[in-house]
Amino acid sequence: MEGLIISGTGLLGSRLAALSDYDFTYRSGDPGPDRERAHRLDLRDLAALRSLLIERRPRVVILSAAMTDVDMCEEEREEALRVNYEAPAVAAEAVRSYGGYLVFISTDYVFDGLRGNYREEDPTSPVNFYGRTKEMAERRVEASGARHAIVRTSALFGGGSRRKDFVLWAYGRLREGGELAVVDQVVSPTPASYLARAVLEIAERELEGIIHVAGREPMSRAEMALRIKERFGLGGSVRVVDSVPGWRARRPRNSSLSVERADALLRNRPPSFEEGLGELEEASLG
Ligand SMILES: NC(=O)c1ccc[n+]([C@@H]2O[C@H](COP(=O)([O-])OP(=O)(O)OC[C@H]3O[C@@H](n4cnc5c(N)ncnc54)[C@H](OP(=O)(O)O)[C@@H]3O)[C@@H](O)[C@H]2O)c1
Repeated sequence: MEGLIISGTGLLGSRLAALSDYDFTYRSGDPGPDRERAHRLDLRDLAALRSLLIERRPRVVILSAAMTDVDMCEEEREEALRVNYEAPAVAAEAVRSYGGYLVFISTDYVFDGLRGNYREEDPTSPVNFYGRTKEMAERRVEASGARHAIVRTSALFGGGSRRKDFVLWAYGRLREGGELAVVDQVVSPTPASYLARAVLEIAERELEGIIHVAGREPMSRAEMALRIKERFGLGGSVRVVDSVPGWRARRPRNSSLSVERADALLRNRPPSFEEGLGELEEASLG
């Protein structure tokens, strides 16, 4: 097998599956017209994950799936550990055993957010359990002996997740003329379609090490919302708040990523926020 995307659903995974002819996994439901390259897999079943990899021996494995709800990770720690840490550890070990190559998708939330504009070599220090599970997985992938890249990204947008990403949520709320309460947090907004193209390039070229693949502009949530409002000519208003009721996990204040390495290394250059919004315009905003 040439390549396997785990999994082919979600914000990033659905685009990886659409832009490549790699096989992909899905957890439930009907895989649709591409069913001949679809494999049913729940990552909590570590033995099934191991068997799939050892039997099919994909040259490239892209591990994108994760428990991404940071508040749920804080509460359901056992499951978060299983999906975000143990599954990547098993995948890395299997890939090493047959000499394959792994791209592990990680996060800006491995950083504490006290400084921002983080480079690949900066020390990690997550402030919540989600970030901790991803940090632990990074260490295991590095120690596994498998040839690999660790791709850290930030604040994905573009639609296609079970949960609404920030850009789609802000767009919907402002279009209704409502008030948008946003926390004072700086991220590197990243169009999911750009990330998918860059990850596929990394997989094709089998690049190694940690690479920050994100939008080129660090930006506060409030600034993002105001740019969306302006670009699409929306009503509504934006207010900065200290915290959001119901949040159980802490968020880093500024987890933006330096994309210098990606800029120098990749043909797919990190886009500006405006360029990302431009791609959205072409897609349906719902
Ligand atoms: N979204 C962001 O802003 C962001 C920022 C930084 C890093 N990242 C990282 O980027 C990667 C992709 O994120 P995303 O936003 O595309 O995620 P997403 O839209 O929330 O999708 C998560 C994916 O993981 C799958 N998954 C979760 N638990 C699973 C399990 N037990 N078994 C099999 N599949 C399971 C989901 O499958 P179902 O469709 O069946 O639920 C879905 O395909 C993740 O590794 C995440 O940590 C994301």
